[in-house]
Amino acid sequence: MHITAKDLAALIPSGFTLGVATAAFQIEGALEEDGRGPAGWDVFASKPGAIVEDHSPAISCDHYHRMPQDVALMKQLGVDSYRFSLSWPRIQPTGSGAVNRAGLAFYDRLLDELLASGISPMITLYHWDTPKALDDIGGWMNRDTAYRLGEFAAIAADVFGDRVARWATINEPATVTTNGYTLGLHSPGEALMLNAFPTVHHQLLGHGLAVQALRAAGVPGEIGMTNVYSPMVPNSINPLDRISAGLMDLAQNRLYADPVLIGKYPDLIRAAKFFSSFDHPDEDMEIISQPLDFYGLNYYMPTKVAVGPGQGAVPASMAEAMGSDLSAMGNGGTPFHVETWPEADITSYGWPVKPEYMRVALKEMAERYPNLPPVIITEGGASFEDIIVRDKSTNTKFIPDERRLKYLSDHMEAALRATAPGGEAETVDLRGYYVWSLMDNFEWSAGYNQPFGLLHVDFETLERTPKASYFWFQELLEERNLVAAAATAVAQAASPELAVTEENDDDVTTLGATA
Ligand code: BGC
Repeated sequence: MHITAKDLAALIPSGFTLGVATAAFQIEGALEEDGRGPAGWDVFASKPGAIVEDHSPAISCDHYHRMPQDVALMKQLGVDSYRFSLSWPRIQPTGSGAVNRAGLAFYDRLLDELLASGISPMITLYHWDTPKALDDIGGWMNRDTAYRLGEFAAIAADVFGDRVARWATINEPATVTTNGYTLGLHSPGEALMLNAFPTVHHQLLGHGLAVQALRAAGVPGEIGMTNVYSPMVPNSINPLDRISAGLMDLAQNRLYADPVLIGKYPDLIRAAKFFSSFDHPDEDMEIISQPLDFYGLNYYMPTKVAVGPGQGAVPASMAEAMGSDLSAMGNGGTPFHVETWPEADITSYGWPVKPEYMRVALKEMAERYPNLPPVIITEGGASFEDIIVRDKSTNTKFIPDERRLKYLSDHMEAALRATAPGGEAETVDLRGYYVWSLMDNFEWSAGYNQPFGLLHVDFETLERTPKASYFWFQELLEERNLVAAAATAVAQAASPELAVTEENDDDVTTLGATA
């Protein structure tokens, strides 16, 4: 069982954002339309065997053509905010220089449509679709890519700055490095193992340069970035398992969070041999660790780690879902591996469902980073195979995705309780939760086989059908609005002058119901 929507709504603090998230490459399709340049992902996805069952991102959810319908579905859902990413090659086809006006126009229309629907826009500048022209000269192995992202941020700030409530510079650099450059499971398909380190630093530098560009443009929206966080849990009390979990924590969590939040790489990483092959100017760390308005955390699951050769951060089940066999990497990989949680419910990806570790994640963040800015869960969700139930008499479809709904409810509850007064992470100023994802989409190398959506997408007809989780989220939003309205009424009764405060529905910074 899970908490009722009404009881969950009662835990939501004033001003907390409830949103949904997507990424351009996963939903837009229209890869060759209106002047979009090729992305490295276009090339990677077209290689036989790179994507499970060779699924193609060419059409995907066809959001590029169906955007107004998708915004209408969000309006009907009642969300406060929509987090989406800009397709870099749609706006800047070669990743530098000339801008494609038709590409800008698409996001112009999207922003206007969102604002007209009362939905606050949150933009991710970089969600993995590097322009091919940049990949051709090394992608994130090349320091210049960081400067190109800074330039791209300036373009976006100039055109969209007045309408965006939140900016995330980059999404999950850890996944780009691990899957894209260390193991070759994602674009650009490089398996450089430890030699991939420069891609960490260059992405973080790109983040810092993007922050500088947004600040220089004076955008009114909040600025932050998004890292994935997975608590690392030793498989046993064996000291070698503990050390393994510690190393994985360094490599997957702290390597990306420490530079941003405390301005330095973890000591052990700095001491590691491979680090000596890579140097960077000291000033970079200042650029990377500029103060942020929020810190975005993607939380999906904890990771159990055991000593013994493996392929590092990717669970075997996930590699399998991507159609890859990483076992061949065995001894060439890491001296530790990801273990399964036999007792846990698992998603279609084989990810353990462990909402209690959401609390652990927030607690660890609070302990590690005393100056942590306000936190937003920028992604959370689960892929489960969906069943479509048809009612022939009414010719309607119903998708009873109870497990996804429970996943979302349990994780939101855990996050809200942990950060409430008296909770184990009470010092964390939690400002929102964005469900991954608005709709089923192109799940990178796992193609269309891992549905995360509140909306089911039929990839043949492109029809969208709300799942039970969509109706649950809608109910949660309605209940939350009732709680907020009641609190406002109480506050107004106590001090009548509040009744004349301005309505600010058009304000880009209106991100949640306030009391
Ligand atoms: C990414 C999304 C992805 C989701 C589920 C996150 O790592 O930001 O693009 O679809 O997880 O795998």
